[in-house]
Amino acid sequence: MPAVVVVGAQWGDEGKGKVTDYLAQTADVIVRCQGGNNAGHTVVVEGREYRLHLIPSGIIYPGKTCVLANGMVIDLRGLVSEIGQLRQYGHDVGGLKVSDRAHLVMPYHHRLDVLEEERRGSFQLGTTRRGIGPAYADKAARDGFRVGDLLEPEYFRQRLRWVVREKNLLLERIYGAEGFDPDHLYEEYMRYAEEIADFICDTSTLINAALDAGQRVLFEGAQGAMLDLDHGTYPYVTSSHPVAGGACVGAGVGPTRIDRVLGVVKAYTSRVGGGPFPTEIKGSLGDRLRDRGGEYGTTTGRPRRCGWLDAVALRHAVLVSGITDLAITKLDTLAGFDPIRVCVAYRHGERLQQSFPSRLSVLERCQPVYEELPGWTEEPVASTFDSLPPAVRRFLERVEELTGIPVRMVSFGRERDKTLCLSDLFATPAAKSPLGATPEMVYTNRRTERE
Ligand code: IMP
Repeated sequence: MPAVVVVGAQWGDEGKGKVTDYLAQTADVIVRCQGGNNAGHTVVVEGREYRLHLIPSGIIYPGKTCVLANGMVIDLRGLVSEIGQLRQYGHDVGGLKVSDRAHLVMPYHHRLDVLEEERRGSFQLGTTRRGIGPAYADKAARDGFRVGDLLEPEYFRQRLRWVVREKNLLLERIYGAEGFDPDHLYEEYMRYAEEIADFICDTSTLINAALDAGQRVLFEGAQGAMLDLDHGTYPYVTSSHPVAGGACVGAGVGPTRIDRVLGVVKAYTSRVGGGPFPTEIKGSLGDRLRDRGGEYGTTTGRPRRCGWLDAVALRHAVLVSGITDLAITKLDTLAGFDPIRVCVAYRHGERLQQSFPSRLSVLERCQPVYEELPGWTEEPVASTFDSLPPAVRRFLERVEELTGIPVRMVSFGRERDKTLCLSDLFATPAAKSPLGATPEMVYTNRRTERE
């Protein structure tokens, strides 16, 4: 059975929650591999809205194993509260597994995130202020705490005293802020440990065993490729690896185990926080797109910046994640926009730039080159690809041509039945990597597959 990685192919908020929710129905194991409660998705199941930041929404379906894997940074206050919310709604959370290797977001990480952001002044990143950057920084500096440390109370207490002393020096002497009492933190974390003890395990072994047993494993990415620490618009990125390779490191599986990478793309683009955004639409048109799309952060409530679809950024995401299939979401939001614009290249001085520049100074000088496509007036309603309005089909086909990747899933509304899945991603391994294939080849393949 193929293992499928779902990745965001833009700056996050592509609608991955809905796509993973859809695929989770037929998956056995759903794995979150990176990030923490900076992510958030809302899924609507049987009219009830779930807002989850850490636990995969697959937990809503009975019998699924939902893993918070080693690559995550976990805020235990948030986790305990999500478990409580699910139990309150009558869900069995027995399928939840938390990696003993995942790192903890500690309260001093939150405080430092806020203080560091303020200190950056005009270089502010616009973080979610959930302590993500400081937690990953401690992980890399080898000053972090792992979930498994909670099972060694004496070790945890001793090390916490030492680490908190260091953090307090920073908080009090550099920032003039309040420090923490390590013994209070210890008591608090021992209470959390009791609540989550039954869920802690070696999740890499569990996931590999599931793959060996032929189970369907869905790796659920958070954020998006353009926020990747290495491949995104650094420094305006998150501190983890949302690209598909991040799923391997973040879940403890080898790259040879991944069969397909589904890139989720919104029919337009949004970005929250600072950083370059070549296709951003400023003014009333951008406001209209934000309002129609309900583009406000699930985690912070911040209004998202909105713009046209950017095929240059998308091709970059395809490249760095090895995307084999695309899911296009929120086609309903674009209803009423005519014409629809798609950025097909950047103009940099006299040159046409087809690849995504790594230097922000270059990116800032790039002007998007737009192509106009006819819009559609009604929100699409369809049960087959061919019954979609012709303008929607043309838009999807153009995305395929511009990326060389076939569209396998289309979403045009929040509800689950407003999704068209054009092939069972778990049933068939991806065709040989479409990267390098000509758009015509991919297009012909997809058509043949549908016929
Ligand atoms: P951090 O991950 O909180 O450190 O934030 C770093 C950058 O990533 C900021 O621009 C955030 O707005 C952005 N970011 C983090 N998580 C998400 C997400 O789930 N969706 C969209 N943007 C995000």
